[in-house]
Amino acid sequence: MSARAAVHARSLTKIFGDVIALEDVDLDVPAGQIHGLVGPNGAGKTTLLGLLLGLSVADKGTLEILGVPSGDVLSVAHGVAGFVDSPGSYPGLTARQNLTSLASLRGEVRASGDIDDLLDRVGLGEVADDTVRGFSLGMRQRLGLAAALLGKPRLLILDEPANGLDPVGKRQVHQVLTDLADSGATVILSSHRMDDLAALCDEVTLLATGRVVFSGPVSKLEAESGELDYRLVTSDPAEARRIAEEETSLTLVAGRKQAAGDKPALVVRGHEAEIDDLVRRLVGAGAAIRELGPVVPPLEAAFLALTGADDQELTR
Ligand SMILES: Nc1ncnc2c1ncn2[C@@H]1O[C@H](COP(=O)(O)OP(=O)(O)OP(=O)(O)O)[C@@H](O)[C@H]1O
Ligand SMILES: [Mg+2]
Repeated sequence: MSARAAVHARSLTKIFGDVIALEDVDLDVPAGQIHGLVGPNGAGKTTLLGLLLGLSVADKGTLEILGVPSGDVLSVAHGVAGFVDSPGSYPGLTARQNLTSLASLRGEVRASGDIDDLLDRVGLGEVADDTVRGFSLGMRQRLGLAAALLGKPRLLILDEPANGLDPVGKRQVHQVLTDLADSGATVILSSHRMDDLAALCDEVTLLATGRVVFSGPVSKLEAESGELDYRLVTSDPAEARRIAEEETSLTLVAGRKQAAGDKPALVVRGHEAEIDDLVRRLVGAGAAIRELGPVVPPLEAAFLALTGADDQELTR
């Protein structure tokens, strides 16, 4: 494997009773990358992150973390940190006390300035001395991230870290993770939000029922969406319909209900290049294009197509 790989996994398989949670999963994450795991509920994201954190052991396959075969060393001591499902904390202690206790449990003595800095970075500076019992879901997520950052990890594993975060919190977390990756650390995180992953990740791995159905740059995933439904509003709906019907490579999608007050819109299904041709013809025929865009964003459409969901049905 490459000396610069943070994770190198081959044929990882994990079985719980009669459930195959992961099947022959390969994963390569270079050092310094932010890598997203995405997939429907039950796809195996948490199971895979748990294997990377050393919380459980694969039934089959090989896994190397930061160049060391997993199982050879204790993850935390080895520069790996993070959480799965949701981060744990001591509810009776304040945010600051949680971090100082955790640091001393790990045998680390941290200057109080370090802890203050961490709390500020995750947006908990103002509530640093409040007990965690009264924290909201988003505040607990932020504390979990601070706890994971405490040991200055070289590999950070986060299971849905944006869960429960407001837009400002999400931006703060994105900034923390981007800074960490810029400093050479690797981040692997799961999310259900394709748009969040697209904004943050260099590459994503898409899991469906325990198998990898895509791994690579987000731009490549977007290209997998193939045909999409586009909503089209023009200055001449009747002419637009006539021309769209003549375009044999396009399908006019029927049955979409228009809400009262909606502008009369056509929904046409096709590839991007075919939609381009339609636009050229419409403009040539004197119809102005007032609105044109995919009904479902391309990333989401690729997700639905690759995970076996019927996007066209879901959007109706
Ligand atoms: N400890 C366990 N015992 C039995 N089955 C389990 C266990 N952990 C996970 N599974 C099963 O393994 C499969 C994958 O679960 P996992 O939690 O990894 O999915 P996920 O992608 O994280 O889903 P979600 O998006 O809902 O968090 C599911 O079918 C789940 O029921
Ligand atoms: Mg999960």
